[in-house]
Amino acid sequence: MTNAVPHESAIGNADVEAAYARWAPIYDLTFALVMRPGRVAAAAAADRPGGLVLDVGVGTGLELPLFDKATRLVGIDLSRPMLAKAHARVASKRLNQVEGLLVMDAMHLAFPDATFDAVVAPYVLTVVPDPRASLDEWARVVKPGGEIVLVNHVGAERGAVAAIEAWLGRRSASLGWHPQFPWAVIGDWIAARPGMTLAERRPLAPFGLFTLTRIKKAG
Ligand SMILES: C[S@@+](CC[C@H](N)C(=O)[O-])C[C@H]1O[C@@H](n2cnc3c(N)ncnc32)[C@H](O)[C@@H]1O
Repeated sequence: MTNAVPHESAIGNADVEAAYARWAPIYDLTFALVMRPGRVAAAAAADRPGGLVLDVGVGTGLELPLFDKATRLVGIDLSRPMLAKAHARVASKRLNQVEGLLVMDAMHLAFPDATFDAVVAPYVLTVVPDPRASLDEWARVVKPGGEIVLVNHVGAERGAVAAIEAWLGRRSASLGWHPQFPWAVIGDWIAARPGMTLAERRPLAPFGLFTLTRIKKAG
């Protein structure tokens, strides 16, 4: 398979849960600032004042305060320790527009078709065990005319960075993410679905390390 995520089969939900149980106590300290530009861009692109937005892989909820107060939000995550932090953030910041924070698998959502005006997933697609199955689910629950908004690292194709990512990729199960994630996973997924189009693909700070992708579902 040409567009396989390297070592894709090496990561399962149990690995993700174990990895994020370890990350949860230090996640905000480690990742709040460096990944903030991506969260700001994702929230701006997915914001739907008056509408309902699904935040997949909401984690500790760092992006929740970045949405308009009139945007109704539902967050889901596999990791209970990460969600516990998100609950605390919602309470301390009085984020009343957050209607639910639920333990749920991004690849098997318990929502009916066409429920959300937008689905946002900052820093999640390279973490989920099956990115294509996840995109299928996110496309199912977004309304016609709505968007899936992604922020994630897209792996280098050659050079020193690609070599480092290949080395890290062999440790993807313990890291809990795929450092070698190729753009083709997203690009080929869109190309194979006539109802979905690429609305935007934009490198983000810092150093273009992360990419914002907006995928539109036909209205
Ligand atoms: C890198 S964190 C991103 C958290 C948050 N979006 C942020 O920007 O800080 C990835 C999150 O995805 C969650 N995750 C990974 N696989 C998942 C799955 N299959 N279903 C639901 N959540 C998942 C992890 O538990 C983790 O909280």
